Amino acid sequence: MKATALAGSNIAFVKYWGALDPEAHLPLNNSISLTLDQANTLVTIEFSPHIGHDVVELEGRMAEGRVRARVVRFLDELRRLGGSGDHARVASKSTFPVATGLASSASLFAAMAVAGLAALGLAPSEREVTTIARLGSGSAARSVCGGWVEWVAGGRHEDSYAYTLRPADWWPLRDIIVIVSEAPKESPSLAGHAAARSSPCFLGRLARAHQHLALVRTAVLTRDLEALGTVGEEEALLLHAVTMTADPPALYWLPATVAVMRQVWQWRREGLPVYFTLDAGANVHVFTTPEHTPQIATSLCAIEGVQRTLVCQPGGAPVPGDVHLF
Ligand code: DP6
Repeated sequence: MKATALAGSNIAFVKYWGALDPEAHLPLNNSISLTLDQANTLVTIEFSPHIGHDVVELEGRMAEGRVRARVVRFLDELRRLGGSGDHARVASKSTFPVATGLASSASLFAAMAVAGLAALGLAPSEREVTTIARLGSGSAARSVCGGWVEWVAGGRHEDSYAYTLRPADWWPLRDIIVIVSEAPKESPSLAGHAAARSSPCFLGRLARAHQHLALVRTAVLTRDLEALGTVGEEEALLLHAVTMTADPPALYWLPATVAVMRQVWQWRREGLPVYFTLDAGANVHVFTTPEHTPQIATSLCAIEGVQRTLVCQPGGAPVPGDVHLF
């Protein structure tokens, strides 16, 4: 009744922003992402009749309030699927700063789904696991799959699932995660999805997302970095245009965020194949080829306000862990 899983975070090139059903995390558009190999979350879950109440320990601290309630709600879903009335103990540990706009809810809930289902002795199909993980966090559906992943919006629970477009070894791109802040972001994604519709940019972004899907699919299938990078940048800028103009607004960028984006554009003018994208946070993902990665990562660290970088390669699907966190 105890199991552990390690799942990678992911970065979206076509983003999920704004929900059809915020409770069930049903999106308004399909999205496409890359699962990352070095931004991971390890989760151990145990269900037991000897545990008196759910114990949720995230990143070494007891979770409280909204964060705990969200995890408990997900445990309730797992218990419903497994026909179990047992309380659970959950612990997580990540290799990157959580709640900073680096999709830590994606790796957390993907790992929770995989570990939780195993702990309950359930073995659903990968597609079913993606829909279950989605109930914890929308982007977690994509982290259940390895490599280049599309999440089909669907429209109802069973139809909103993710699948691998191409596996991790399809295209050896590098994602240099540029950490400019480790502070938890002030505005969680949940509030952002809810506020998105109030932005005058919302419908424009949605229309572009639908167009971008075909472009990103083709870019992945043909390994076209220019096409992927161009769309990924526009998706990030449109997402942030929506957050900045929504009610209430959210401005995630820090001075170093802008400095990194400007530097990427400057490198491109100089002929380097390098692109950025961001999720809902200040930290930036910089994409380039393996050969340019060492030089670009070093130069990024020299930008004022950049704390460190984390170089990722395409990552695989979650794996069971043999060493438990408790
Ligand atoms: C900006 O998946 O974190 O990273 O479903 O409320 O948990 P919830 O939202 P979440 O939203 C992710 C938003 C994004 C873009 C993306 O990953 O597609």
